[in-house]
Amino acid sequence: MGFRAVNGVDLRLEAGRVHALVGPNGAGKTSLFNLLTGFLKPTSGEILLFGRDATHLRADQIANLGVARSFQITSLFEQLSALEHVLLALQSATDLGLRFWSSEGALRRFVPRGRELLGEVGLEAVADRPASGLPYGQKRALELAIALAREPRLLLLDEPTSGMGLEDVSRTIALIRHVAGGRTVLLVEHNMGVVAEVAQRVVVMQQGRVIADGPYEVVRHDPAVIAAYLGQVDA
Ligand SMILES: Nc1ncnc2c1ncn2[C@@H]1O[C@H](COP(=O)(O)OP(=O)(O)OP(=O)(O)O)[C@@H](O)[C@H]1O
Ligand SMILES: [Mg+2]
Repeated sequence: MGFRAVNGVDLRLEAGRVHALVGPNGAGKTSLFNLLTGFLKPTSGEILLFGRDATHLRADQIANLGVARSFQITSLFEQLSALEHVLLALQSATDLGLRFWSSEGALRRFVPRGRELLGEVGLEAVADRPASGLPYGQKRALELAIALAREPRLLLLDEPTSGMGLEDVSRTIALIRHVAGGRTVLLVEHNMGVVAEVAQRVVVMQQGRVIADGPYEVVRHDPAVIAAYLGQVDA
């Protein structure tokens, strides 16, 4: 049998709470995101989203149920402005789907909401700048606005603070708290300071399995968790 990146994970997220998913490099965190969003199919087991069976749904169907994700690596289009990114995201949430070549006029109706979303993540002043020219922290904030465009009930964030300086990290903490309101959030995060500040529950993975699950203060003292991190070369 081949290598299993995620194996026997039994996890129930609580509605409206912020969950952190942590664990050493290669633990299977991103793979779990790929399973939850339909990018990968499980070989066994089931995935329930909002009480319905989503095990066999495609990625776009899962997105339509109200699941949005941001990626571990920045994934923006070079030429589009910040606002255009959000407009396309807003359009993709409609029946029209994602049509890159739809006329400017068709997108125009999303401008007020698009600006509002950029405002929510602190980017109103750079709305018309090409995304490629934005500083890194603002790129990541833009990705959050794109994820929010669908008004997701479940928001999956893969390392939203990776590669950030202190200032951007604290801004992102505030931002996550702000966008979490009422939503279920699952956030992969290596920075334990961020985890302690935003997460009500921490799920720890190692080698494809969940090895601990609970409040930060409890999980951080768990011997299995300590051992998992000590075993990591670059912890
Ligand atoms: N498409 C793939 N094909 C083969 N192996 C893969 C694939 N994707 C991931 N893996 C392997 O699965 C394991 C889990 O990877 P994953 O990216 O889920 O880890 P992660 O917990 O997100 O790690 P990191 O903290 O470094 O982002 C790793 O050993 C990785 O090399
Ligand atoms: Mg990952």
